Amino acid sequence: MTSQQSHRKDEHVSLAEKFHRPAEFSSFDQVRILHQSLPELALSDIDTTTLFEQRRIDYPILIEAMTGGSERTGKLNAQLAQLAATAHLPMAVGSQSVALKEPALSSTFTVVRNYNHDGMVIANLGAGHSVDDARAVVEMVSADALQVHINVAQELIMPEGDREFYWLDQLAAIVAKLNVPVIVKEVGFGMTAKTVQKLMAIGVTAVDLSGRGGTSFAQIENFRRPEKEMTYLNDWGLTTTESLLEMRKLSTRPLIIASGGIKTPLDAIKALALGADIAGMAGEVLHHLIATDYNATEQWLIHWLQDFKRLMLLTGSKTVRDLRKQSMVFSPELESFARQRFIS
Ligand code: FNR
Repeated sequence: MTSQQSHRKDEHVSLAEKFHRPAEFSSFDQVRILHQSLPELALSDIDTTTLFEQRRIDYPILIEAMTGGSERTGKLNAQLAQLAATAHLPMAVGSQSVALKEPALSSTFTVVRNYNHDGMVIANLGAGHSVDDARAVVEMVSADALQVHINVAQELIMPEGDREFYWLDQLAAIVAKLNVPVIVKEVGFGMTAKTVQKLMAIGVTAVDLSGRGGTSFAQIENFRRPEKEMTYLNDWGLTTTESLLEMRKLSTRPLIIASGGIKTPLDAIKALALGADIAGMAGEVLHHLIATDYNATEQWLIHWLQDFKRLMLLTGSKTVRDLRKQSMVFSPELESFARQRFIS
């Protein structure tokens, strides 16, 4: 397992950890939820469950697509699957295109089913692949849904990246022909309302906005190419909060997953208050696995989920839907974004 592709997967993990900043700017700092002193609720009243693609899940939280494709990342996938199974959370695997090219690497993805037999697992593939490829990756991990990632900015920074981005026809075919739900996903650059409209026009019913503010693939890929860096793109893209505000422009909305910079339960609460159906977390989970160990990460995640429930109480939200009823105040910068984009 020493191919160039496997090496790249290992590098992504190491560099995501290298650039991980716990106290860094998060776009969720631009949003305040107003305190209410009389929630009239008990912790035992709070229902954290929600429906996600026809399945009831314990929390509206997704362990996001990250990895697989090398020996090290296969082990990480096994740990992520254990976490997902223990916490009853849905999880996505990282891009499986490497296993389509080198079938021997598929075990680094299928390992998730050894630890998470019945949980919700989401397959992952880049846009531009055929319907057959999409079917193959879904079958590989007996997936309940497929994420197709769209990552133009990342590819353009990568010296070995793609240079052709005619994706909509292939995406439409995949959406039409697959027998599992298809989620179209960014990788940390966010989406505008217009992008989501284009996706909905070809039948897409679920998007993962994956905005700027957390793991930055501009930063990661720039570090991998020490010459001719495009570091001026390190801040490219819409933040996750900006992407969520963009969705207010849509008259009909798809299922919305918000990821990109979600680290604390309060970040997730804010994402849901801004209209997300599910909040996804990648880099922060990875950071705990690498910086501590499996057991400490499991404890961290269990506490994280307990705190999420407490914050539902604090915000007077008996159900996940109630989170949408929050009174919020935006920072001047976010408010200016909303004004300039004609978002009310
Ligand atoms: C990712 N992400 C990602 N996304 C995807 O659709 N396919 C992939 O293969 C990967 N690979 C990957 C590797 C690593 C190491 C990380 C940290 C992330 C992107 C991820 O799913 C998410 O969209 C972004 O990382 C933003 O979320 P966070 O990290 O800020 O929580």
